[in-house]
Amino acid sequence: MSLCQIFVCATPGEGRCGEKGGNELLEHFRSEVERRGLSPSAVLRNVCTRRHEEGPVVFVYPDDVWYTRVTAGEVDGILDRHLARTRA
Ligand code: FES
Repeated sequence: MSLCQIFVCATPGEGRCGEKGGNELLEHFRSEVERRGLSPSAVLRNVCTRRHEEGPVVFVYPDDVWYTRVTAGEVDGILDRHLARTRA
């Protein structure tokens, strides 16, 4: 089974994802992954990839999908789309 991982950018700094809600978004992903009984390693903090103009950004590996201006309301849908198959 391939392990899918969600990288959430929460880099601090003016105009960066952390300032645009990246930390809260990361916590949302972590809480929801825990609630679903998925591995905590499915969600990781990402470093700046120079996309913060559209932040907060989320990258899904290995699906190679980027999400921009992500809100807490999108967390469920992203997990459903990419992590459903990684359930133990
Ligand atoms: S701080 Fe998130 S892409 Fe730069």
